[in-house]
Amino acid sequence: MKVLIVGNGGREHAIARSIHESASFRKDNGILYCTSGNPGMEKFCIPVNIKPADINSLSKFAVENKIGFTVVGPEAPLSLGIADVFQKNGIKIFGPVKGAAEIESSKIFAKNLMKENEIPTARYKTFSKKEIEEAIGFINECTYPVVFKADGLAAGKGVVILNNEEEARRHLKDFSEDKTLSDTGDEFIIEEYIKGEEVSVFAICDGKDYALLPFSQDHKKISDGEMGGNTGGMGAVAPVKKFMTEALTEKIKNKIIEPVLNAMKRMGRTYKGCLYCGLMISDDEPFVIEFNCRFGDPETQAVLPLIKSDFLELLISSAEGSIREYKLEVYNKFTCGVVIASGGYPGKFETGKLISGLEDELEQCIVFQSGTKAGNENEILTNGGRVLTVTGISDVSLSHAKYLAYERIKSISFDNMYFRNDIGFRQIDNSRDA
Ligand code: AMP
Ligand code: GLY
Repeated sequence: MKVLIVGNGGREHAIARSIHESASFRKDNGILYCTSGNPGMEKFCIPVNIKPADINSLSKFAVENKIGFTVVGPEAPLSLGIADVFQKNGIKIFGPVKGAAEIESSKIFAKNLMKENEIPTARYKTFSKKEIEEAIGFINECTYPVVFKADGLAAGKGVVILNNEEEARRHLKDFSEDKTLSDTGDEFIIEEYIKGEEVSVFAICDGKDYALLPFSQDHKKISDGEMGGNTGGMGAVAPVKKFMTEALTEKIKNKIIEPVLNAMKRMGRTYKGCLYCGLMISDDEPFVIEFNCRFGDPETQAVLPLIKSDFLELLISSAEGSIREYKLEVYNKFTCGVVIASGGYPGKFETGKLISGLEDELEQCIVFQSGTKAGNENEILTNGGRVLTVTGISDVSLSHAKYLAYERIKSISFDNMYFRNDIGFRQIDNSRDA
């Protein structure tokens, strides 16, 4: 079978690797294609020079080249309707249709869905740019901090925590004058801040049934100890053991995933693909912070190395509606994925730096590439904010996985490289498994 991966970041590198290792793919002498730009993926995928957002050209390519299955990594092509176009042209694809992807592309759609279906989430209200005073009125009914969320896709920049009235007024004024985000809509949400532990949940759905992958924990802030500005994610660990209980898992299934799948089906927006639930666990109760219509990055680089059963078959069973028959098997291992970024990220940073130390592959460590590009000869250069994710994999403990990742990082270098030193700290401190 020929498989096409749309997207070229660390998440897609991890997806491609897991498909490449799937027994069904190997047995079938599978061939992998990927949208071009990631030299790590291009070691085992044939590059296709079409942008992920160019959904019509991708569909044409898939038809002409008899691609048997397509897997979409990022949200942009999904929210543009890539799954709708592929399905119309009779090509199998992993990922939700546009109407279902709205669960990520519109935060207001997601919040209303939760309200109507009593899915636990922070109390909120929706406002337009013209309703700044009304928003301040609602904020004053809440206790600080409160959370501001712009509607629409904002690449992680649409969420701002407001700590006092002065900050709130300044941010709302900037937003209403369009100084902050140009490509989101006119509407925004103010919601209450929930204190707790964040967990990322990936449910692979086929419209009615789903398989839950191991839970992971991202580290969103740029600096150690969760300090500094928000990023796309600076590292992730899996599985999350410290505060996850069977009872909590049942609540996540019964109060969140199942009501979402049922509601989406009733609305004619049948949900297939990965439903990413960003949760806050507060006093043993799960609250939804956000839904995404795709796998998370860098969580995927931590979660996928734990999947023992055939990953390609899992994704195909999502598209075909046969998850019920799929038997998910998971390794009893621990992973710690550390993101290496360009100095300056999430603000301004330079690219084009030569990366050394990518050559030696170790069995217990995988180096996933994201913001990289090919230079002269066999050179690999930096080409983005988040450049690599180094994932340590241990049979023993999370702290061992962390040790393996950081040992591997010692042999990697480029000018001005930056990474956090404390990935996994929440799970490792006082953890039974550490
Ligand atoms: P989002 O893009 O919605 O995931 O928000 C980015 C980050 O802001 C989340 O990962 C949380 O750390 C934080 N956040 C968002 N909403 C809330 C909330 N209601 N309470 C506490 N933290 C939040
Ligand atoms: N790591 C967060 C995300 O993928 O949205």
